[in-house]
Amino acid sequence: MRVGVLTSGGDAPGMNATIRAVVRGCLYYGMEVFGIHQGYEGLLNDEFEPMQKSSVADIIHRGGTILQTARSDEFMTDEGKLKGYERLKIHGIDALVVIGGDGTLNGGLRLHELTRMPVFGLPGTIDNDLAYTDFTIGFDTSINTVLSAIGNIRDTSSAHGRTTIIEVMGRHCGDIALHAGLAGGAETILIPEKPFDIDDIAAKLLAGKERGKKHSIIIKAEGVGMSSEELAKKISDITHAETKVVVLGYIQRGGGPTARDRILASRTGVRCVELIREGVTNAAVGIKGDTIVDYPLSVALAMEKNVHFDYQRICDILL
Ligand code: F6P
Repeated sequence: MRVGVLTSGGDAPGMNATIRAVVRGCLYYGMEVFGIHQGYEGLLNDEFEPMQKSSVADIIHRGGTILQTARSDEFMTDEGKLKGYERLKIHGIDALVVIGGDGTLNGGLRLHELTRMPVFGLPGTIDNDLAYTDFTIGFDTSINTVLSAIGNIRDTSSAHGRTTIIEVMGRHCGDIALHAGLAGGAETILIPEKPFDIDDIAAKLLAGKERGKKHSIIIKAEGVGMSSEELAKKISDITHAETKVVVLGYIQRGGGPTARDRILASRTGVRCVELIREGVTNAAVGIKGDTIVDYPLSVALAMEKNVHFDYQRICDILL
């Protein structure tokens, strides 16, 4: 049995720990394993490397991905996927493990549908936008990075009596904003899944000022349908408070993974190898509660995400 493994799409802390779990899990069960560099793009360009135990030594604590990652336009097409399948056959790959987010796992599902190649998805993304799993690998690290930034910004925002809008990642999914916002004691959390009313936000800020609040933090996901600069201008026009914007950007994707992400990576990676061994033909592996779960890819990817709107309500109660 020979397994291929790749990382694709945006990188996430814990991808290395996931690669390590898949490689060492395969070797433990007597399977061969090949790393494919540069995601699906590297699959098309034949970037295969046989992996040994030592290939994944000393990476459990490192951010990024030793296999590197890419976004491939060619692989998005069915022709691209058939070409990728040819490369897998040439290298004698019996099962492919893809580590990434929604796009990566959907690409894997389509590859499986077109060719019957066994494909397994592991949820590596900071976005936490995969409905079949409570948490994706990298999400916990990312929200802790955001929390530490909120702490620093809170100090200076309070010293100057400002309102600060902190823009976090999440084009379609507000989970980073919801979790970091609640944990960071934000006044307001804005997410792409729910429209907001600027007058409500301003009223909350003004009420806070009345109570003697010196400064305010607003956490806004990047996918919210108004630019942070425009929002800042509108808020400062209404409240007359100096309003700054901080875009956290890629620092949210870097850094060594937290214990939680390393454990999730190790557990899902080993489970994935065991599913391959059991003869399952395709699956997405994740976590529900504290249980490692797996579903056929098509089932996992059709699930609807449970958005924690309640986090916004709790935030309001705790203002
Ligand atoms: O990894 C997911 C994500 O970080 C999104 O939240 C973000 O919008 C996107 O990737 C940006 O990634 P890139 O600029 O690398 O395409």
